[in-house]
Amino acid sequence: MINDQLTALGQEALAAIAVAPDLASLEALRVRFSGKKGEMTTILKQIGTLSHEERAAVGQLANTLRAEIETALTTRRETLEAAALQVQLTAETLDVTIPGTANVVGHQHVMMKTLDEVLDIFISMGFAVAEGPEVELAANVFDKLGTPEGHPSRDWGDTFYFDKEDKHVLRTHTSPVQVRVMESTKPPIRVVAPGRVYRKDEVDATHSPMFHQIEGLVVDKGVTMADLKGTLNTLVEQLYGKGTATRFRPHHFPFTEPSCEVDCQCFKCRGQGCPMCKGEGWIELLGAGMVHPNVLRNCGIDPEEYSGFAFGCGLERMTMMRYNISDLRLIFENDLRFLTQF
Ligand code: PHE
Repeated sequence: MINDQLTALGQEALAAIAVAPDLASLEALRVRFSGKKGEMTTILKQIGTLSHEERAAVGQLANTLRAEIETALTTRRETLEAAALQVQLTAETLDVTIPGTANVVGHQHVMMKTLDEVLDIFISMGFAVAEGPEVELAANVFDKLGTPEGHPSRDWGDTFYFDKEDKHVLRTHTSPVQVRVMESTKPPIRVVAPGRVYRKDEVDATHSPMFHQIEGLVVDKGVTMADLKGTLNTLVEQLYGKGTATRFRPHHFPFTEPSCEVDCQCFKCRGQGCPMCKGEGWIELLGAGMVHPNVLRNCGIDPEEYSGFAFGCGLERMTMMRYNISDLRLIFENDLRFLTQF
Protein backbone atom coordinates (compact mmCIF):
# COMPACT_ATOMS: atom_id res chain seq x y z
CA MET A 1 0.00 0.00 0.00
CA ILE A 2 2.59 2.56 1.13
CA ASN A 3 5.01 1.21 -1.45
CA ASP A 4 2.50 1.89 -4.19
CA GLN A 5 1.87 5.39 -2.89
CA LEU A 6 5.60 6.06 -2.76
CA THR A 7 6.24 4.70 -6.23
CA ALA A 8 3.38 6.78 -7.66
CA LEU A 9 4.68 9.86 -5.86
CA GLY A 10 8.20 9.18 -7.19
CA GLN A 11 6.95 8.92 -10.76
CA GLU A 12 4.90 12.08 -10.44
CA ALA A 13 7.83 13.94 -8.93
CA LEU A 14 10.33 12.83 -11.59
CA ALA A 15 7.90 13.68 -14.41
CA ALA A 16 7.18 17.14 -12.98
CA ILE A 17 10.84 17.91 -12.28
CA ALA A 18 11.87 16.92 -15.79
CA VAL A 19 9.65 19.62 -17.31
CA ALA A 20 9.85 22.33 -14.61
CA PRO A 21 9.85 25.56 -16.67
CA ASP A 22 12.10 27.68 -14.43
CA LEU A 23 14.14 27.71 -11.23
CA ALA A 24 11.27 29.06 -9.10
CA SER A 25 8.92 26.21 -10.08
CA LEU A 26 11.74 23.74 -9.54
CA GLU A 27 12.17 25.01 -5.98
CA ALA A 28 8.42 24.67 -5.41
CA LEU A 29 8.60 21.04 -6.59
CA ARG A 30 11.52 20.33 -4.24
CA VAL A 31 9.51 21.67 -1.27
CA ARG A 32 6.43 19.78 -2.36
CA PHE A 33 8.02 16.35 -2.90
CA SER A 34 11.09 16.06 -0.76
CA GLY A 35 10.82 18.95 1.73
CA LYS A 36 10.51 18.28 5.46
CA LYS A 37 6.76 18.90 5.29
CA GLY A 38 6.44 17.47 1.79
CA GLU A 39 4.28 14.70 0.41
CA MET A 40 6.94 12.02 0.94
CA THR A 41 6.99 12.86 4.66
CA THR A 42 3.19 12.70 4.79
CA ILE A 43 3.16 9.19 3.28
CA LEU A 44 5.94 7.97 5.56
CA LYS A 45 3.93 9.02 8.62
CA GLN A 46 1.88 5.85 8.09
CA ILE A 47 4.99 3.77 8.65
CA GLY A 48 4.08 3.25 12.34
CA THR A 49 1.26 0.89 11.32
CA LEU A 50 3.65 -1.53 9.56
CA SER A 51 5.47 -4.64 10.68
CA HIS A 52 9.24 -4.66 11.19
CA GLU A 53 10.03 -6.26 7.80
CA GLU A 54 7.62 -4.09 5.91
CA ARG A 55 9.17 -0.98 7.50
CA ALA A 56 12.63 -1.94 6.29
CA ALA A 57 11.40 -2.44 2.70
CA VAL A 58 9.48 0.86 2.70
CA GLY A 59 12.47 2.69 4.22
CA GLN A 60 14.73 1.35 1.48
CA LEU A 61 12.30 2.32 -1.26
CA ALA A 62 11.91 5.79 0.26
CA ASN A 63 15.69 6.27 0.32
CA THR A 64 16.05 5.19 -3.29
CA LEU A 65 13.26 7.52 -4.39
CA ARG A 66 14.72 10.42 -2.39
CA ALA A 67 18.08 9.91 -4.11
CA GLU A 68 16.46 9.73 -7.54
CA ILE A 69 14.46 12.90 -6.86
CA GLU A 70 17.62 14.66 -5.59
CA THR A 71 19.52 13.70 -8.76
CA ALA A 72 16.63 14.79 -10.97
CA LEU A 73 16.43 18.14 -9.14
CA THR A 74 20.17 18.74 -9.59
CA THR A 75 20.12 17.81 -13.26
CA ARG A 76 17.12 20.02 -13.96
CA ARG A 77 18.63 22.93 -11.97
CA GLU A 78 21.83 22.77 -13.99
CA THR A 79 19.90 22.71 -17.24
CA LEU A 80 17.73 25.67 -16.23
CA GLU A 81 20.71 27.66 -14.95
CA ALA A 82 22.61 27.12 -18.20
CA ALA A 83 19.56 28.22 -20.18
CA ALA A 84 19.10 31.31 -18.00
CA LEU A 85 22.77 32.23 -18.49
CA GLN A 86 22.36 31.80 -22.23
CA VAL A 87 19.32 34.11 -22.22
CA GLN A 88 21.22 36.70 -20.20
CA LEU A 89 24.27 36.53 -22.48
CA THR A 90 22.12 36.96 -25.55
CA ALA A 91 20.24 39.88 -24.01
CA GLU A 92 23.45 41.64 -23.01
CA THR A 93 25.22 41.24 -26.32
CA LEU A 94 26.66 44.54 -27.59
CA ASP A 95 26.46 45.25 -31.28
CA VAL A 96 29.78 46.97 -31.78
CA THR A 97 28.94 47.69 -35.40
CA ILE A 98 26.19 50.21 -34.52
CA PRO A 99 27.51 53.72 -35.29
CA GLY A 100 28.36 55.64 -32.10
CA THR A 101 27.35 59.14 -31.08
CA ALA A 102 30.24 61.35 -32.08
CA ASN A 103 31.52 63.93 -29.59
CA VAL A 104 31.95 67.38 -31.03
CA VAL A 105 35.54 68.30 -30.29
CA GLY A 106 37.08 71.60 -31.28
CA HIS A 107 39.93 71.97 -33.71
CA GLN A 108 42.88 74.22 -34.30
CA HIS A 109 42.12 77.92 -34.82
CA VAL A 110 42.94 79.19 -38.28
CA MET A 111 45.57 81.56 -36.82
CA MET A 112 47.33 78.70 -35.09
CA LYS A 113 47.30 76.73 -38.35
CA THR A 114 49.28 79.49 -40.03
CA LEU A 115 51.59 79.78 -37.03
CA ASP A 116 52.27 76.03 -37.07
CA GLU A 117 53.10 76.12 -40.77
CA VAL A 118 55.50 79.01 -40.28
CA LEU A 119 57.08 77.41 -37.20
CA ASP A 120 57.59 74.15 -39.10
CA ILE A 121 59.49 76.03 -41.79
CA PHE A 122 61.80 77.74 -39.29
CA ILE A 123 62.30 74.62 -37.20
CA SER A 124 63.36 72.78 -40.36
CA MET A 125 66.01 75.50 -40.82
CA GLY A 126 67.34 74.86 -37.31
CA PHE A 127 65.59 77.62 -35.37
CA ALA A 128 64.48 77.13 -31.77
CA VAL A 129 61.24 78.64 -30.41
CA ALA A 130 61.54 81.35 -27.72
CA GLU A 131 58.87 83.13 -25.70
CA GLY A 132 58.52 86.33 -23.72
CA PRO A 133 55.83 87.98 -21.58
CA GLU A 134 53.07 90.14 -23.05
CA VAL A 135 53.32 92.55 -20.11
CA GLU A 136 56.88 93.67 -20.69
CA LEU A 137 59.37 96.18 -19.33
CA ALA A 138 59.43 99.39 -21.34
CA ALA A 139 63.20 99.00 -21.12
CA ASN A 140 63.00 95.81 -23.24
CA VAL A 141 60.32 97.08 -25.60
CA PHE A 142 61.98 100.46 -26.25
CA ASP A 143 65.20 101.49 -24.49
CA LYS A 144 67.47 98.51 -25.13
CA LEU A 145 66.19 98.39 -28.71
CA GLY A 146 67.47 101.93 -29.27
CA THR A 147 64.09 103.64 -29.32
CA PRO A 148 64.76 107.10 -27.89
CA GLU A 149 62.58 109.06 -25.45
CA GLY A 150 59.97 110.93 -27.42
CA HIS A 151 59.90 108.39 -30.28
CA PRO A 152 56.32 108.23 -31.66
CA SER A 153 55.95 104.51 -30.91
CA ARG A 154 56.31 105.31 -27.18
CA ASP A 155 53.34 107.67 -27.30
CA TRP A 156 50.55 107.15 -24.77
CA GLY A 157 48.17 107.31 -27.71
CA ASP A 158 49.78 104.26 -29.33
CA THR A 159 50.88 102.10 -26.42
CA PHE A 160 49.07 100.54 -23.44
CA TYR A 161 50.98 101.59 -20.31
CA PHE A 162 50.53 99.87 -16.96
CA ASP A 163 51.89 102.46 -14.56
CA LYS A 164 52.41 106.21 -14.30
CA GLU A 165 56.17 105.71 -14.26
CA ASP A 166 55.89 104.17 -17.75
CA LYS A 167 57.85 101.11 -16.58
CA HIS A 168 55.52 98.37 -17.84
CA VAL A 169 53.66 98.16 -21.13
CA LEU A 170 51.72 95.63 -23.16
CA ARG A 171 54.44 94.87 -25.69
CA THR A 172 53.88 96.63 -29.00
CA HIS A 173 55.97 94.10 -30.92
CA THR A 174 57.78 90.79 -30.29
CA SER A 175 61.22 92.44 -30.56
CA PRO A 176 61.74 92.56 -26.74
CA VAL A 177 62.13 88.76 -26.94
CA GLN A 178 65.35 89.50 -28.87
CA VAL A 179 66.62 91.33 -25.77
CA ARG A 180 65.61 88.53 -23.40
CA VAL A 181 67.24 85.85 -25.57
CA MET A 182 70.49 87.80 -26.07
CA GLU A 183 70.71 88.60 -22.36
CA SER A 184 70.23 84.98 -21.35
CA THR A 185 72.11 82.99 -24.02
CA LYS A 186 75.47 83.22 -25.70
CA PRO A 187 75.74 83.17 -29.50
CA PRO A 188 75.27 81.29 -31.75
CA ILE A 189 71.59 82.26 -31.44
CA ARG A 190 68.91 81.13 -33.86
CA VAL A 191 65.36 81.64 -32.53
CA VAL A 192 61.85 82.54 -33.61
CA ALA A 193 59.45 84.03 -31.06
CA PRO A 194 55.74 84.06 -31.85
CA GLY A 195 53.17 85.82 -29.67
CA ARG A 196 50.51 88.46 -29.09
CA VAL A 197 51.29 92.17 -29.33
CA TYR A 198 49.15 95.22 -28.52
CA ARG A 199 48.67 98.68 -30.00
CA LYS A 200 45.98 101.29 -29.45
CA ASP A 201 44.33 100.82 -32.82
CA GLU A 202 40.61 101.16 -33.54
CA VAL A 203 39.05 97.88 -34.69
CA ASP A 204 38.31 97.70 -38.40
CA ALA A 205 38.68 95.22 -41.27
CA THR A 206 42.48 95.40 -41.12
CA HIS A 207 43.25 96.63 -37.56
CA SER A 208 42.92 95.18 -34.09
CA PRO A 209 44.39 96.37 -30.74
CA MET A 210 45.70 92.82 -30.29
CA PHE A 211 47.41 90.87 -33.03
CA HIS A 212 50.18 88.29 -33.51
CA GLN A 213 53.75 88.58 -34.68
CA ILE A 214 56.59 86.17 -35.14
CA GLU A 215 60.05 87.52 -34.43
CA GLY A 216 63.25 86.02 -35.79
CA LEU A 217 66.78 86.50 -34.48
CA VAL A 218 70.10 85.06 -35.62
CA VAL A 219 73.39 86.11 -33.99
CA ASP A 220 76.72 84.50 -34.79
CA LYS A 221 80.16 85.25 -36.16
CA GLY A 222 80.04 86.53 -39.73
CA VAL A 223 76.26 86.76 -40.19
CA THR A 224 75.43 89.04 -43.13
CA MET A 225 72.47 90.48 -44.99
CA ALA A 226 72.87 87.58 -47.46
CA ASP A 227 71.90 85.17 -44.65
CA LEU A 228 68.81 87.29 -43.95
CA LYS A 229 67.83 87.20 -47.62
CA GLY A 230 68.44 83.48 -47.93
CA THR A 231 66.37 82.75 -44.83
CA LEU A 232 63.42 84.92 -45.88
CA ASN A 233 63.52 83.64 -49.48
CA THR A 234 63.29 80.11 -48.10
CA LEU A 235 60.31 81.11 -45.95
CA VAL A 236 58.48 82.66 -48.90
CA GLU A 237 59.19 79.77 -51.26
CA GLN A 238 58.01 77.25 -48.66
CA LEU A 239 54.82 79.24 -48.06
CA TYR A 240 53.94 80.29 -51.61
CA GLY A 241 55.83 77.91 -53.87
CA LYS A 242 59.27 77.65 -55.47
CA GLY A 243 60.32 80.64 -57.49
CA THR A 244 58.16 83.16 -55.59
CA ALA A 245 60.23 86.36 -55.66
CA THR A 246 60.94 88.71 -52.75
CA ARG A 247 61.67 92.44 -52.77
CA PHE A 248 63.77 94.20 -50.14
CA ARG A 249 63.00 97.93 -49.74
CA PRO A 250 65.11 100.25 -47.57
CA HIS A 251 63.33 101.28 -44.37
CA HIS A 252 64.08 102.49 -40.85
CA PHE A 253 63.83 100.71 -37.50
CA PRO A 254 65.68 101.97 -34.41
CA PHE A 255 67.03 98.48 -33.65
CA THR A 256 68.38 97.42 -37.05
CA GLU A 257 70.96 98.93 -39.39
CA PRO A 258 70.53 98.68 -42.28
CA SER A 259 66.77 98.08 -42.11
CA CYS A 260 64.36 96.95 -44.77
CA GLU A 261 60.80 96.01 -45.47
CA VAL A 262 60.30 92.79 -47.35
CA ASP A 263 57.55 92.16 -49.91
CA CYS A 264 56.75 88.91 -51.64
CA GLN A 265 55.49 88.57 -55.15
CA CYS A 266 51.70 88.31 -55.14
CA PHE A 267 51.00 84.58 -55.06
CA LYS A 268 47.58 85.10 -56.70
CA CYS A 269 48.63 86.96 -59.86
CA ARG A 270 52.36 86.16 -59.78
CA GLY A 271 53.20 89.88 -59.97
CA GLN A 272 50.75 90.90 -62.71
CA GLY A 273 48.60 93.03 -60.38
CA CYS A 274 45.20 91.91 -59.00
CA PRO A 275 42.70 92.85 -56.26
CA MET A 276 44.65 90.73 -53.72
CA CYS A 277 47.78 92.91 -54.12
CA LYS A 278 45.77 96.06 -54.97
CA GLY A 279 47.33 96.09 -58.43
CA GLU A 280 50.87 96.27 -57.02
CA GLY A 281 52.07 92.76 -57.84
CA TRP A 282 53.74 92.72 -54.42
CA ILE A 283 52.46 92.08 -50.90
CA GLU A 284 54.18 93.55 -47.84
CA LEU A 285 55.37 90.75 -45.59
CA LEU A 286 57.59 91.94 -42.75
CA GLY A 287 60.20 94.31 -41.35
CA ALA A 288 63.82 93.20 -41.00
CA GLY A 289 67.45 94.25 -40.83
CA MET A 290 70.88 93.67 -39.35
CA VAL A 291 70.82 93.89 -35.55
CA HIS A 292 72.12 97.36 -34.59
CA PRO A 293 75.55 97.22 -32.88
CA ASN A 294 74.14 99.26 -29.98
CA VAL A 295 71.42 96.66 -29.41
CA LEU A 296 74.04 93.88 -29.31
CA ARG A 297 76.07 95.97 -26.86
CA ASN A 298 72.98 96.75 -24.69
CA CYS A 299 72.46 92.99 -24.37
CA GLY A 300 76.06 92.14 -23.51
CA ILE A 301 77.21 90.90 -26.92
CA ASP A 302 80.36 92.34 -28.51
CA PRO A 303 79.49 93.76 -31.97
CA GLU A 304 83.17 93.52 -32.97
CA GLU A 305 82.94 89.74 -32.63
CA TYR A 306 79.32 89.03 -33.56
CA SER A 307 76.71 90.23 -36.01
CA GLY A 308 73.11 89.24 -36.53
CA PHE A 309 69.88 89.76 -38.38
CA ALA A 310 66.30 90.07 -37.13
CA PHE A 311 62.84 90.23 -38.60
CA GLY A 312 59.29 90.69 -37.36
CA CYS A 313 56.27 89.48 -39.24
CA GLY A 314 52.54 89.94 -38.65
CA LEU A 315 50.59 86.68 -38.70
CA GLU A 316 47.02 87.92 -39.20
CA ARG A 317 47.59 89.28 -42.66
CA MET A 318 49.43 86.14 -43.65
CA THR A 319 46.44 84.09 -42.42
CA MET A 320 43.96 86.30 -44.25
CA MET A 321 45.87 85.92 -47.51
CA ARG A 322 46.39 82.22 -47.08
CA TYR A 323 42.74 81.42 -46.37
CA ASN A 324 41.10 84.20 -48.39
CA ILE A 325 39.65 85.98 -45.34
CA SER A 326 38.45 89.48 -46.13
CA ASP A 327 37.92 90.91 -42.64
CA LEU A 328 40.34 90.68 -39.70
CA ARG A 329 37.47 90.85 -37.19
CA LEU A 330 36.27 87.40 -38.26
CA ILE A 331 39.46 85.88 -36.88
CA PHE A 332 38.77 87.13 -33.35
CA GLU A 333 34.97 87.06 -33.12
CA ASN A 334 34.81 83.34 -32.30
CA ASP A 335 31.81 82.70 -34.52
CA LEU A 336 31.76 78.92 -35.04
CA ARG A 337 30.06 79.28 -38.42
CA PHE A 338 33.26 80.99 -39.52
CA LEU A 339 35.85 79.03 -37.55
CA THR A 340 34.62 75.55 -38.48
CA GLN A 341 35.35 76.28 -42.15
CA PHE A 342 39.09 75.89 -41.61
N1 PHE B 1 59.39 95.08 -34.56
C1 PHE B 1 59.16 95.57 -35.88
C2 PHE B 1 57.67 95.93 -36.02
O1 PHE B 1 56.88 95.58 -35.16
C3 PHE B 1 59.52 94.57 -36.94
C4 PHE B 1 60.97 94.26 -36.96
C5 PHE B 1 61.48 93.21 -36.23
C6 PHE B 1 61.84 95.00 -37.75
C7 PHE B 1 62.83 92.93 -36.28
C8 PHE B 1 63.18 94.72 -37.81
C9 PHE B 1 63.67 93.66 -37.06
O2 PHE B 1 57.27 96.57 -36.99
